[in-house]
Amino acid sequence: MNKIQLMNVDKAYGKDNPIIENLNLDIGEGSFTVLLGPSGCGKSTTLRMIAGLEKESKGDVYIDGKSMKTVEPGDRDIAMVFQNYALYPTMTVRGNIEFGLANNKIHKAERDRRIKEIGDVVGLTEFMSRKPQALSGGQRQRVALARAMVKKPSVFLMDEPLSNLDAKLRSQLRTELIELHHRLKTTFVYVTHDQVEAMSMGTDIVLMKDGKIMQHGKPVEIYNNPKNVFTAQFIGTPPMNIINIKNIENIKNYENACYLGFRPEHAKLYESPPEYDGGLNLSGVVVTHEMLGSEILYRLDTEYGRVNVKIFDLGQILEGKATIVIPEQKIYYFDDRQNRIYF
Ligand SMILES: Nc1ncnc2c1ncn2[C@@H]1O[C@H](COP(=O)(O)OP(=O)(O)O)[C@@H](O)[C@H]1O
Ligand SMILES: [Mg+2]
Repeated sequence: MNKIQLMNVDKAYGKDNPIIENLNLDIGEGSFTVLLGPSGCGKSTTLRMIAGLEKESKGDVYIDGKSMKTVEPGDRDIAMVFQNYALYPTMTVRGNIEFGLANNKIHKAERDRRIKEIGDVVGLTEFMSRKPQALSGGQRQRVALARAMVKKPSVFLMDEPLSNLDAKLRSQLRTELIELHHRLKTTFVYVTHDQVEAMSMGTDIVLMKDGKIMQHGKPVEIYNNPKNVFTAQFIGTPPMNIINIKNIENIKNYENACYLGFRPEHAKLYESPPEYDGGLNLSGVVVTHEMLGSEILYRLDTEYGRVNVKIFDLGQILEGKATIVIPEQKIYYFDDRQNRIYF
C-alpha cells in the first residue's frame, strides 16, 4: 500500500526557475525510501513538499490517500530531522526530547513512558540529564532523532541527518537507523547524496537528477539493472566503466547500441590474453593499483580510455601490459540517449 503519493507535481521557485516537473512518486507504507541524487537535483525540495514546508506549484501530495492541499505541516502526522539539527543548549537531553511532545496534549505518565522508551531505543538512557555540550556529535544527533520520533509520527522524514558526522560514526548510525526502522515499522523517507548510505539503508531507492526520477527500485535492482547510464554510474564505486562504441568496428556491435558498460568488479585481468570465450577483451596498461584490503583496484589505460578493474584475488599484483576480460552476460548496452537496451 502507498503511504505517500506525489502526483504530477511541479515546483518552481519564482517564474522562470522550474526545479521539478511532473514528478510522480509512490512511497510504500513501512518502506525505508531513500531519495538519492547529486546536490541540487531537488531531493530536499521533494521532502519539504511532503512535509508541507514547501508548497507544490502544481499537482498533489497524498498521505494515506488523502490530499494534503489544505493540511498544515503540524497536522500531517510526520516528523522531520535535518542535517543541521538544533538542540536547546540550556535543556537536558530529556528536556530536548520532551520538547518534541510539547504541542501534544499527552499526560505526564505517558510522556515519561515515551521519553524513556525512545531514550532506550536510541541508546541515550544514561545521558538523560546531560546538556548537549557534554555530548559527542553522534549522541547529539541521536537526541535530534529521539526528539522527532517521540511523537510517534506515521512518517519520518530525514534530510542528510548524518552528513556532519565522521565516517566511523556515520557507519554506526547507519546500522542503528536500519534497526530503528525494523523496530518502529514507520515509513522513513531519507534524503542523501551518498550512494553508500542509500544502498546500505534503503528498502527502496529513488534516484533523481535535475528534478526527475531516473530510477526507482530496490537497491539490488538498481545495481543489477540500471535503466540508464546515469544510474549505472551513480551506483557503485568506482562507477561502471562506460565506453562509447558508436565508431568502434572491432567491438561486437549491436544495431542501435552507442555505449557499452561493465562494472569494475565484473572484469578479470590477465597477464597475457586468454583464449577468447565470447565476452569482451580489451588490452591495456596498468597505470596504478591500490590495495584496499579485500580487493585491489587497478586503473588501466586502454585504446578506449581509462578503465577501473577490481580484483578480489590478492595473490599476484599485475604490472605493465594486461588483458581485461568481461563476460558477455556482464556487459550492459545503452542507446544514443543513454537508455539501456535489452537484448
Ligand atoms: N528557496 C529557494 N529559492 C530558490 N531556489 C531554491 C530554493 N530552494 C532550493 N532552490 C533551488 O532548487 C534546486 C533544488 O534544490 P534542493 O531541493 O535543495 O536540492 P538537493 O536537496 O537535491 O541538493 C537547486 O537548484 C536550488 O538552488
Ligand atoms: Mg538537500
